[in-house]
Amino acid sequence: MSRVVYVLNGPNLNLLGKRQPHIYGYETLADVEADCRRVAADLKLDIVFHQSNREYEIIDWIHEARETADGIVINPAAFTHTSVAILDALNTCEFPVLEVHISNVHKREAFRHHSYVSLRADGVIAGFGVQGYTLALQRVAKLINEKKA
Ligand code: DQA
Repeated sequence: MSRVVYVLNGPNLNLLGKRQPHIYGYETLADVEADCRRVAADLKLDIVFHQSNREYEIIDWIHEARETADGIVINPAAFTHTSVAILDALNTCEFPVLEVHISNVHKREAFRHHSYVSLRADGVIAGFGVQGYTLALQRVAKLINEKKA
């Protein structure tokens, strides 16, 4: 039986590939989605892939996921460092939650070193480029299978 994983992306990630490519690389969010769908098919996961620049939309998708999905992979982007509301939403979920950052946030400005989402995340990947998304999918698949076994 296939499992459903929401892959959620926060603000400015719609500009991936164009935005500060020396930090985030040249792959677009459409490339990331295609990579995720390819790996998800191998892992027998169904992916729901979203990006928004609006905090409330991300919160609404987390609420949707808690009713319908088996896990979340989230790159909250700048909301990582500011959003108690996204943390609160993730705290309502009982399934695995993995946090992804394309860049190594710990090598960057001090304000990026703190993550509200990490207070809930079961694992964090940072600095692996966009490969972090597919690595997170592998991990979420393992955690889901362990939970359902
Ligand atoms: C990011 C890191 C955040 O600090 C930043 O605000 C982003 C992207 C990353 O993927 O490296 O927008 O989450």
